[in-house]
Amino acid sequence: MDYSYSPKVVTVGHVDHGKSSFIGRLMYELGQVTEEKFQELKSVSAKRGVEFEFAFLLDALQDERNQGITIDTTQIFFKTERRNYIFIDAPGHKEFIKNMITGASSADIAFLIVDVAEGVKEQTKKHAYLLKILGFERVIVLYNKIDKIKYCQEKFTKINKELTAYLSKLEVEVHSSIPISAKNGDNISKNSEKTDWYLGGTVIDVLDGFSIKNNDHKNELRFPVQDIYKVGDKRIIVGRVESGKITNEDTLLFLPTNQIVKVKSLESWPKSKKEYNQGECVGITLDEQIFVDVGNIASRPGTPPKLMNRFEANVFWLSQSKLKLNKKYDLKINTGQYHVSINEIKKIIDTNNLQPKKNFNVTKNDICELVFHSSQLIPMDDYSHIKSTGRFCLLDENEIVAGGILNLKNFPDQKEVLSETKKNILPEEFYVSEIDRSVMLKHRPGIIWLTGLSGSGKSTIAKGVEKKLFSEHFNVFSLDGDNIRLGLNKDLSFSPEDRTENIRRTAEVAKLFSEAGFIVIVSLISPYRSERRKARDIRPEIFKLIYTKASLDICTKRDVKGLYAKAKSGEIKSFTGISSPYEEPEKPELIIDTEKENVNESIEKLYNFIKKEFSFS
Ligand code: ADX
Repeated sequence: MDYSYSPKVVTVGHVDHGKSSFIGRLMYELGQVTEEKFQELKSVSAKRGVEFEFAFLLDALQDERNQGITIDTTQIFFKTERRNYIFIDAPGHKEFIKNMITGASSADIAFLIVDVAEGVKEQTKKHAYLLKILGFERVIVLYNKIDKIKYCQEKFTKINKELTAYLSKLEVEVHSSIPISAKNGDNISKNSEKTDWYLGGTVIDVLDGFSIKNNDHKNELRFPVQDIYKVGDKRIIVGRVESGKITNEDTLLFLPTNQIVKVKSLESWPKSKKEYNQGECVGITLDEQIFVDVGNIASRPGTPPKLMNRFEANVFWLSQSKLKLNKKYDLKINTGQYHVSINEIKKIIDTNNLQPKKNFNVTKNDICELVFHSSQLIPMDDYSHIKSTGRFCLLDENEIVAGGILNLKNFPDQKEVLSETKKNILPEEFYVSEIDRSVMLKHRPGIIWLTGLSGSGKSTIAKGVEKKLFSEHFNVFSLDGDNIRLGLNKDLSFSPEDRTENIRRTAEVAKLFSEAGFIVIVSLISPYRSERRKARDIRPEIFKLIYTKASLDICTKRDVKGLYAKAKSGEIKSFTGISSPYEEPEKPELIIDTEKENVNESIEKLYNFIKKEFSFS
């Protein structure tokens, strides 16, 4: 077990059930209170004629620590031989819930304290529910005042059974049930002889043996993308490591796009390191240009977050305005923001008295279980799995209305649904084959892929060749970058990711045309070698790369569309050749040098090439 981490501990339970006495006693037994202080408090109590209580010790400790400071959370540090701990507490449960849900404080270990003489009361059940809603999956139950029932095993067992059953209904696991007496010090740091029937460990033993689940997952990388910087040709994806660590040898999975890519470099200023740990900020460059957006999460491929469009959450409502069902809210999670609506209110608890509400009006300071819907797929984690990527806030018109923690158990991970769908889609075979079509058309299908700078002559040549081939009864069609961008690809910009997607979609359309028997002529700048290679890989046997070659100088001089002038004046950003790269093809099947040849010569050259490669005669 990892003892370097200091777990945060919280004690929940009715005030009269001995919460403060327990903490006071624990501190005393751990030697965190000086004997002097202890004696002083004892004599003060004696003088006042009241019985000394360990709760006084806690009060005294808190007074010392909090002098003059009003804060929402009280923190008390203590240490065992094994590790350091922090008790977190809040003036009232409302503050505590708010702190927990909004992430102002977060506990790793929860004690539920019950007065064993009183048994399981409504209050205990409310506190148990509170633990569930705050995302605790396991609790340590302390049956306090065991001295009051004369250390009776039967009574303890009966109450323990009842509470364990109730907690299991809430899906909260009982990690340990310890009979204690905060007053007499039974089973706190020493096993009590009076409970010889109890075979478990002391509170300290149990604490030290409690492995922190979130800590177990600390190796799972979560890197939410905060921004994408362009420095020259480089695209640097920046963000903060929220969990785990990232190294310069990692392969990453980006969600929601589900793309896997290798890290090329890790960059930070003034000096870059080989790995970055939780809490550190870093810039990443990738081996391939994939579509990455703000709000995406990078993880290791084997341990990704979930991808959800329907999910449950436990929410603390902060706003004066009431929750409205089916209204659009903005969900801010990690670095992303998404439109969501609340479809169902499963339960509402008024935090003032921890009573469930009978009406379904969620108002300020209520905690509730809600079901959300989003039209987009959102990468997220169950709060009990990774806290930092498992909480969110909800906004209405830019104002925070609620904070919440995610419970992703009851709805499917869409990542699996998507791959499941893919698994269940099988290609259909049709009766008319590609060969049938070729025989009828008297030529083979082909993908003629023209790449080159804007103004290098791609469309002009494509038009001329298409006309010539058509007049000879070739089944031919032109797919032109500009035209496709007005329809199918009108959602794409000229960012590297969008150009990549532009190329991918166009290649898929070209493939469909080729399957229909066409010779399809694609005119697309398609500036990246890697993406042209991918386009070729779709149907390599019929793919021909044609480089329409003209220097940037000449293209700028031609400037048929007036775009180079605009790009130079800065009116168009990321213009190929000016402010965005063009990677020349290494091994095109044909080069058409439009600087040296006139238009007709170029058309003739490509026309002859196609006829030679694709016609039967
Ligand atoms: S690609 O880079 O994604 O392959 P595509 O061929 O679809 O480009 O589109 C290029 C056409 O869009 C150019 O012929 C030009 O008319 C127009 N255009 C507008 N803005 C840009 C830009 N920033 N870079 C390149 N072409 C642009």
